[in-house]
Amino acid sequence: MKIFVDSANVKEIEKWLNYGIVDGVTTNPSIMLKDGVYNIDERIRTLAKLIDPLPLSVEVTTNDVNEMIEQAKQLASLAHNVVVKVPVETEFGVPCFGVIGELEKSGIKVNATVIMSFAQIMLAAKAGASYLSLFAGRVADEGGNSTEVITETVKWLERWGFKSRLIVGSIRSVGDVINAALAGAHIITIPPQYLVKMADHKYTRETVKEFLADAKKVLILMG
Ligand code: E4P
Repeated sequence: MKIFVDSANVKEIEKWLNYGIVDGVTTNPSIMLKDGVYNIDERIRTLAKLIDPLPLSVEVTTNDVNEMIEQAKQLASLAHNVVVKVPVETEFGVPCFGVIGELEKSGIKVNATVIMSFAQIMLAAKAGASYLSLFAGRVADEGGNSTEVITETVKWLERWGFKSRLIVGSIRSVGDVINAALAGAHIITIPPQYLVKMADHKYTRETVKEFLADAKKVLILMG
């Protein structure tokens, strides 16, 4: 299973990268805004170089399917490890599977994004997307069972030999990460604040403190 960092924050990504637990990075327009990125191309180049050869997902920002292809080509030209996020449909309900297929055929890797259902997963996989981003938190917000979608997706992709990898995103807690991992997600994209929570346990800290105190006592006893 792979772990991606869901962030555009250079310092955070660098930190987790140096710990050796990062397999890629994902962003979206809201993450760029939250992380104060105003020169998008410059940040994409910086992040892509930082994590090279790992994949960096960046998203198109239009409802026009022809413009999506142009934007995707421009984004992909910024670095060889850029993966372009294309939503499975526009805000007006226009399906984007043609865009996904065309980009993949032209050699641009696509992360089919804003997926909320197994039905959308089937179509995006058929269109040839390299990655399928299921928004688990948002599925759960609407009362959906994201764990079931993850389990069924992984089984279905394997049964039929699809190359697409499932990314579980929209993580809202460490519990979401654990559920996704146990349900068989290929990849989980995690915001840095949950990586911090995953790493820490107060009883671990207390136990380490106890060991260090005892080690000091031994030194004193030894004179
Ligand atoms: C990941 O690829 C998604 O863009 C991200 O996890 C969405 O998360 P949100 O539902 O918290 O906006």
